Amino acid sequence: MRVIGIETSCDETGIAVYDDEKGLLSHTLYSQVKLHADYGGVVPELASRDHVRKIVPLIKQALADANCTQDDIDGIAYTKGPGLVGALLVGACVGRALAFAWGKPAVGVHHMEGHLLAPMLEVNVPEFPFLALLVSGGHSMMVAVEGIGRYQVLGESVDDAAGEAFDKTAKLMGLDYPGGPRLAKLAAQGLPNCYRFPRPMTDRPGLDFSFSGLKTFAANTIAAEPDDEQTRANIARAFEEAVVDTLAIKCKRALKQTGYNRLVIAGGVSANSRLRASLAQMMQDLGGQVYYPRGEFCTDNGAMIAYAGMQRLKAGQIEDLAVKGMPRWPLDSLPPV
Ligand SMILES: Nc1ncnc2c1ncn2[C@@H]1O[C@H](COP(=O)(O)OP(=O)(O)OP(=O)(O)O)[C@@H](O)[C@H]1O
Ligand SMILES: [Mg+2]
Repeated sequence: MRVIGIETSCDETGIAVYDDEKGLLSHTLYSQVKLHADYGGVVPELASRDHVRKIVPLIKQALADANCTQDDIDGIAYTKGPGLVGALLVGACVGRALAFAWGKPAVGVHHMEGHLLAPMLEVNVPEFPFLALLVSGGHSMMVAVEGIGRYQVLGESVDDAAGEAFDKTAKLMGLDYPGGPRLAKLAAQGLPNCYRFPRPMTDRPGLDFSFSGLKTFAANTIAAEPDDEQTRANIARAFEEAVVDTLAIKCKRALKQTGYNRLVIAGGVSANSRLRASLAQMMQDLGGQVYYPRGEFCTDNGAMIAYAGMQRLKAGQIEDLAVKGMPRWPLDSLPPV
């Protein structure tokens, strides 16, 4: 089976062709970062319009790169939610239209299921069950994964997502959008033990997260300290260590609670090297294993949507012709495969 995946939930247009025997045949990505940079964040209407401009040329390119035509495609997978409704509708309309025109089945994919299954695109794939830490621009979730579509959300953020906290703190430091990777780069120049940020919600039981307090702590620290590059790097490092420590403490707690010894980290923040190193060390100490997607598949992409969609199409989960976008869509409401 060969599936074309279409991702348009936010500010990246991602298209990919995945074959269940040969693996990933092609993937193309257009990032709108430059378009939104002047505004310091994603402008939904501009995002939708840019998806409209880019989606068809990218589909043609992905098919050409995969050396195939529409006749070689057996199914279409598009991101149905969660995300920006206008952006989602572009992908959903095009996905549905192609399915109708080509006479092929189509399925709407949950964006966070895409992130969660992204490590399956790699050589070393985790077996079920595993614990998944999903940390992206819009979500922070701890999920017990028993199989595809068998998800139990054990905890999530009560306010800002981890990536959002990175982006907002980066903005306070005068770093351009998207700030997460820039803050991480600055933190690499920072000295240890200059500041001690709190580890939110680790002093009480439970697996929920809260990151908005860290942003306020960063704002107060920045205001109280001199405005030079080294100080900013030291603050960035202390902030990053606080996020990483908090996530690691919660992962350890969730592993104990579930009894699992496999940990998947996915979503944009899983590209963070300090987080990867910390969780790798933790899993080594616990005698378990950590899995994550390659860097380019941590953030939004079409490959993860093609992969997740293929699992559902193979199970006969085909949707009718209605075009639906689901800006809000609980992960644990998905049917099992
Ligand atoms: N190296 C890094 N360190 C920290 N944060 C990072 C790094 N690389 C990317 N990010 C963050 O990851 C986020 C983008 O990830 P992703 O594309 O998965 O999120 P999204 O699609 O916007 O949100 P969602 O998937 O929840 O809808 C941004 O907040 C970005 O700052
Ligand atoms: Mg995403």
